[in-house]
Order: sequence, then C-alpha cells, then structure tokens
Amino acid sequence: MSRLLFILALFLNTVYSCEVCEPCECNVIRFRRRFLCTADCSDRDLTSIPGTIPSEVHVIDLSYNDLHSEDLARLKLFTGYLTDLNLSYNNITYLPAQSLSTATQLNVLNLDGNILEKVDSTSFGHLKQLHKLIGIHAKTFEENSFENLEGLNYMSIVFGSQEVSENIFSHLKLKTLHTNFKTAKRIPEKLLNFGIDTLVDIYLDVPNVESLHENTFSGLTILKSVTIQTEMMQTLPSNLFHSGVNDDRKMPVNLVTVMIDGVKSLPRNLFDKQQSLKHLALNNIEDLILPKSESQVDTLDLSGSTLYRVSADWFTGFKNLRFLNMSRTKLVEVNNDTLMPLLSLTVLDLSYNNITNLPDHSIQSSQNTIVAFNVSHNQIRNISSLNI
Ligand SMILES: *[C@@H]1O[C@H](CO)[C@@H](O)[C@H](O)[C@H]1NC(C)=O
Ligand SMILES: *[C@@H]1O[C@H](CO)[C@@H](O)[C@H](O)[C@H]1NC(C)=O
Ligand SMILES: *[C@@H]1O[C@H](CO)[C@@H](O)[C@H](O)[C@H]1NC(C)=O
Ligand SMILES: *[C@@H]1O[C@H](CO)[C@@H](O)[C@H](O)[C@H]1NC(C)=O
Ligand SMILES: *[C@@H]1O[C@H](CO)[C@@H](O)[C@H](O)[C@H]1NC(C)=O
Ligand SMILES: *[C@@H]1O[C@H](CO)[C@@H](O)[C@H](O)[C@H]1NC(C)=O
Ligand SMILES: *[C@@H]1O[C@H](CO)[C@@H](O)[C@H](O)[C@H]1NC(C)=O
Repeated sequence: MSRLLFILALFLNTVYSCEVCEPCECNVIRFRRRFLCTADCSDRDLTSIPGTIPSEVHVIDLSYNDLHSEDLARLKLFTGYLTDLNLSYNNITYLPAQSLSTATQLNVLNLDGNILEKVDSTSFGHLKQLHKLIGIHAKTFEENSFENLEGLNYMSIVFGSQEVSENIFSHLKLKTLHTNFKTAKRIPEKLLNFGIDTLVDIYLDVPNVESLHENTFSGLTILKSVTIQTEMMQTLPSNLFHSGVNDDRKMPVNLVTVMIDGVKSLPRNLFDKQQSLKHLALNNIEDLILPKSESQVDTLDLSGSTLYRVSADWFTGFKNLRFLNMSRTKLVEVNNDTLMPLLSLTVLDLSYNNITNLPDHSIQSSQNTIVAFNVSHNQIRNISSLNI
C-alpha cells in the first residue's frame, strides 16, 4: 500500500512539475502507455532556454526563436529523459562539444533552418539512441562527422560546400536519406555505397550537378524510392537503375517510386527491368519519351514536362494506370485513341494546356472508372458530349 502511494505521489509530482513552465506551455501526454512531459516553447522570441522547463521533460520544441550556439549549454540539464528536441529556425552556427552529451535517450533532433559553420565528430558525441536527424546544414562537414551515430535511420542534410567526402556516411545504417547539395557541381561516385543493406529511400536535390555517375546507385538492391531534383542535367546514364550487357553490378531493380524533376531528356531504356514500379513522376523534362514496355505503373505525373502532342501508342504499356497528370505540358491536342489503352483511369488532369478540341470518345474507355477530370485553362471552345 505504501509503495503504491509512493508511486502515485511520484507520478503526481511528475505531472505537477510538468504543468507550469512559462513562457512555454507544458503538457503531459500519453504515448504508447507512457506519460510524457512536453514543453512547447516554439515562436516565443526566446534568446535563452527557459529555466522553468522541468529537467524530466521528454519533448522540447524550441523552434522559431533566437537561440545562438552559446545558449545551448543549458541543454546539459536535460538528462536521461529527453527524446525529442526541436531547435529548428534559430540562429545556431555551431553545436558546442558536449552540449548534447547527456541526452542519452535522444531520438529525434531537428536542426532545420540553422546554418552551421562546421560539423565534426565532436558535434554530436555518442548519441546512440538518435534515430532521426532532421535538417542538418553546414558549410563544412568533416569526413568523421557522423561516425558515432550508428542508430540513425533517417537523415536530411544540406551541404553548403563544393566538395563532399565520399566517406561521410560510412558507418551509418540509414534507411532514408534526403540530401541537398546547394552548390556542388558533382557528387562522389561512391557516396551511397554505405547503404547497400539499408537504404530504402533516397532523395537527391542537386540543382548544380551536371551529371550522375552510372554507379551512383550500384549495389543498392533494396532501394524502393528515388527522387532526383536538378536544373543543370542534360540526361541520366541509361544504366543508372539496372545493369547493362556484360556488366554484373547488383542494381536497384525493385523500385516502387521514382521522381525525376528537371533533367532535360531521359534515355528510353532508363526503366527497363523495373517490375515493381508503381509511382512515376517525370516533371519539367524538355524532351520526354515514355518507356514502351508493359508496366505496373499506377500513378503517372508528367506535369510541367513538354509534350505538345502525344502519339497514339504512348500509353500502350500503361494498362494499370489510375492517375494521370498532364497539367502544364503544352499539350495542343488529344486524339480519340490516345487515352484508349487506359481502362481504369480514375483521375485525369489536362489543365493549363492549349487543347482546342476534345474528341467525343477520348475518355470513353475509362468511362466507368473516372472520378475526376480537369480540363480547365485550355482553349476548348466546344464540349459537346464526352460520352461518359
Ligand atoms: C519540431 O520538430 C518536431 C520533430 O522533431 C516536429 O514534430 C514538430 O512539429 C516541429 N515543430 C515545429 C513548430 O515545426
Ligand atoms: C543571427 O545572429 C547574428 C549575431 O550573432 C545577427 O547578426 C543575425 O542577424 C542573426 N540572424 C538572424 C536570422 O536572426
Ligand atoms: C497535377 O500536377 C500539378 C503540378 O504541376 C498539381 O498542381 C495538380 O494538383 C496535380 N493534379 C492532381 C489531380 O493532383
Ligand atoms: C498556348 O499557345 C500560345 C500561342 O501559341 C502560347 O503563347 C501560350 O504560351 C500557350 N499556352 C500554354 C499554356 O502552353
Ligand atoms: C477517331 O477519329 C477518326 C477520325 O478523326 C475516326 O476515323 C475514328 O473512327 C475515330 N475512332 C473512334 C474510336 O472514335
Ligand atoms: C484539377 O482539378 C483536380 C480535381 O478538382 C484537382 O485535384 C487538381 O489539383 C486540378 N489541377 C490543377 C493544376 O489545379
Ligand atoms: C459543337 O460540337 C457539336 C458536335 O461536334 C456540333 O454539332 C456543334 O455545331 C458545335 N458547336 C459549335 C458552336 O461549334
């Protein structure tokens, strides 16, 4: 009985000490059968970390304040309990060595919107429990920056430098990697080699990179999702996602989602051997040719790419297509047989084009499945009957 009372008292005490933490707002929330103390200090013009935050706090949101690097020393007070720390959109230019060293349970760290001068192996120390590192952005990353973060499985990172070490991610076991190369003109051929057994989802925002090496994704056999966003690339190597004749590289041939934005033109056989591809987005491509082979693609987003006219056999390989976006593709005409192969289309977006005429039977083959059809912002003068 007295033990029960003691536990109750302890619990009430925790709850109590999580009640008032002006100027922040503290709350106890229930998460996975545990009670967690959260402190919302977001957007309060803070120039230091308030002393009123209880040391047993689990979640602290300090986003959108004016904290500087020197102010982070106080983080040492939060030991043992802290799992989730949001420092996004402050004025942090370096992570003082040891400032996070006591947060041994830290799971999620958000640093979005701060530009650090330099990150090295002392910046994080041993955050063994860290799963998710969001928005780390630095002008320089030392090769060993992340060597002690073996528990990490998600990272989003912004490289401010021209050169990036190809070993920067070695030791990591990331499932998801979002990278933004702000200024770099090339990315190292072996940068992603670390992820052979782990990488599932990769996002490359590479505005200034002019070409990708054919081996960029070599060995990444469990990769499911790739996004490439660029402005300077003429094309991609045709063997970027599959091996060619006389080449036995293990390649990511089980991709489910591919998004390519801003490459000038794509090789015709880029998607050969992809049997699992379901979601394909090819945006802002100047010279677009669709793969002819049969595919399982369910969602096809071509918005922003230049099409003008789509020939009669364009969609023959896309029998399972349900969602088709051809908004802003400079389309001038749709023939009555263009959309014929599509038997189960549910959403069709043809908006913002120069289509003058829609033939009567253009969407007849999907008349029983279509639920949304957008032809706004075209030059259509006369819609008689679309036979739907
Ligand atoms: C702060 O980051 C956490 C993740 O660490 C997120 O859940 C939360 O929404 C963020 N808060 C703001 C205001 O962006
Ligand atoms: C960050 O702090 C510096 C002074 O250390 C100041 O000059 C600068 O304007 C601040 N930036 C922002 C975005 O608040
Ligand atoms: C088609 O893509 C455009 C972006 O270009 C987007 O604004 C629009 O919402 C998309 N259509 C649908 C139906 O999702
Ligand atoms: C439609 O065509 C006109 C004239 O050819 C051109 O100026 C305009 O940019 C086109 N609009 C779109 C949305 O492609
Ligand atoms: C498509 O249009 C052409 C003439 O423009 C016509 O000969 C043909 O029968 C039409 N096909 C269908 C399925 O309506
Ligand atoms: C066209 O209309 C659909 C359905 O209302 C909508 O989802 C889509 O976003 C629209 N497209 C654009 C470019 O606004
Ligand atoms: C609109 O199309 C229908 C069927 O094609 C035709 O009978 C009608 O004359 C057209 N109207 C105008 C104003 O062009």
